[in-house]
Amino acid sequence: MKLWGGRFSKDLSVETENFTETIDVDSRMVLYDIWGSQAHAIMLAHQQIISLDDLRQILTWLGKAKEDFLSGKLELKRELEDVHMNVETYLIEGAGREYGGKLHTARSRNDQVLVDARLYIREQILDTQELLCQLAKTFLEIAEAHVETVMPGYTHTQHAQPITLGFWATAYASMFLRDLKRLDAAYANVNTNPLGACALAGTSFPIERNLTTRLLGFDDIHEHALDVISSRDFITETLFALAQLMSNLSRLSEEIVYWSAYEFRMIAVDDAYASGSSIMPQKKNPCVAELIRGRTGRIYGALQELLINLKGLPMGYNRDLQEDKPPLWEAFDVVQACLSILKGMLATLEINEKRMAELVSANFATATELANFLVRERGLSFRKCHEIVGSIVGELSSSGLTFSNLQETQNLLKLKDIEISIPELKSILDPKFAVLNNKSRGGASPEEVKRMSTDLDKHLSRIEAKISQKRGQINVARELTDDVIEAALSRADIRAKIQEICLV
Ligand code: ARG
Repeated sequence: MKLWGGRFSKDLSVETENFTETIDVDSRMVLYDIWGSQAHAIMLAHQQIISLDDLRQILTWLGKAKEDFLSGKLELKRELEDVHMNVETYLIEGAGREYGGKLHTARSRNDQVLVDARLYIREQILDTQELLCQLAKTFLEIAEAHVETVMPGYTHTQHAQPITLGFWATAYASMFLRDLKRLDAAYANVNTNPLGACALAGTSFPIERNLTTRLLGFDDIHEHALDVISSRDFITETLFALAQLMSNLSRLSEEIVYWSAYEFRMIAVDDAYASGSSIMPQKKNPCVAELIRGRTGRIYGALQELLINLKGLPMGYNRDLQEDKPPLWEAFDVVQACLSILKGMLATLEINEKRMAELVSANFATATELANFLVRERGLSFRKCHEIVGSIVGELSSSGLTFSNLQETQNLLKLKDIEISIPELKSILDPKFAVLNNKSRGGASPEEVKRMSTDLDKHLSRIEAKISQKRGQINVARELTDDVIEAALSRADIRAKIQEICLV
C-alpha cells in the first residue's frame, strides 16, 4: 500500500510505477532528505505541533536511516517511488505509524523535494567553483611563467598583433572570474528555504520557518508558498551559469585542438591527455579537448530542456517539474569532470616558445606598430599611416617577403618619403618590442599582464575564502541540527537549546 494510497481502490500498474519513479535521480539526495526531515520534526516539536515523545521517536529512526544509508544498508526501493517515500516508510516501519506518521504534518513532497534539491545543489555549486578556481589558478601560473613569451594574437584566425602567452592565459582567468560570479549569483537564489510552503498554500499549523532556515543553513526564507512550489528558476540560473562556463571551456578546447595541429605546433598536449589511432601509428589525438568541446552541447541541451519544460506550466506543482533534476545532475557531472581534467592538461601542456616566436614574425603582426610609429614620430594621421603600411605589406607579400626583409621594407618606406634607419626599423618591427609598448590598461605588455595576474589572483583568493565561508555555514547548520537532536534524545530542554543556538 502506498503512503498516499487511501483514495485508490487498486495498485498502480508496474508500468506506471516504472514510468514515474525517480530512485536513481533521488539517490543523491538521501542525506539531504534526512536532514530536512530532522529539521522539520524539530520545528514541529518546538511549535508543539507534535510532542517531544513523537520527536524522539522520529529522530531516533531518522538517525538510524542515516546510519543505514551510510553503511550501504538502506537501499532505496523502486516501488516506493522516490527518496521521500523511502525515508518516511523506513521511519514508519521503525517507529510505528503513531509516531513516524506524524513527520509529514505541515509538509508536502512539493516543498520537501525542493529542500533536498537545494541542499544538494548548493554544495555542487561550491564544488564546481572550487574546481574552477583551481583551473583559473593554473592559468595564472602559466601567465607568470610566460609574460614575455611572444606569440601571434589572432582575429578572424589571422595574425593580428603580437601578444604573449601570459596575456592569453590571463584572459581565460578573467573569463573564469565571471563564471565564478555567475555561480555565486545562482547560489544566492538556490540557498533560500522552501520548507513550509507545503503543497502550495502554506498551512493552518503554526509552523516557524525561521527555525528550519537556521537548522538547514539557508540564507533566507523563500517566502511566497505558491511561488516556491511553482518555480525552478534557481535551477535554470544554475544551468545557465554552467552552460556559459562550458562555452568558455569549449573555446579553450578548440584552441588546444588547433594549436596542437601540425600547422600550428604551438603546444603539445601531454601523452597522458591524448590518445592514438587504431590504424595510423603516428597519430596523437587531443581527444580530451575534443570531448570537452563535444560535451558542451549536453549542457546547452540541459538548459534548453528545463526552459522548455517550464514555459507552459501553470502555477502550482506539476509533475513535469520532476524532470528538473536529471539535466542538472548531468550538467554538474560533466562540468566538474571537464574542469578537473583541464587543470591537469593545462598544467602539463608543452609550450613551443620557438614556434610561437617564429609564427609571430612570419606574417606582418607588427604592421599596426609601424603605423603607430609613423603617427607618433612623423605627425601623420592614423588613416594615412594605415594606408602607407598597408601598401608596403601588399608589396612585400606579393614578392614573398616579410618585415624580416628590413632592407626591402626600408626601401619601400623611402619611396613614400619616409626615412627610418635600419636599427630603428628593426626595433619597431620586433614583436617583443610591440608587446612591451602595449602598456594601456588591460593591454598585452608584461607589466600589465603581471598587474592583472596579481589582481586576478586576489579576486580568486577572495572567492575561495567565500566558498569556505559558505561551507562553514553549512557545517555550522549541520552541527546545530545535530546539537538539537542530541538534546532531544538525551531529554534535555530543546526549547532552551534552540533558544540558545538559534535565537528563534
Ligand atoms: N519526485 C517529485 C519531484 O521530483 C517529488 C514531488 C512529488 N510530488 C507530487 N505531488 N507527486 O518533483
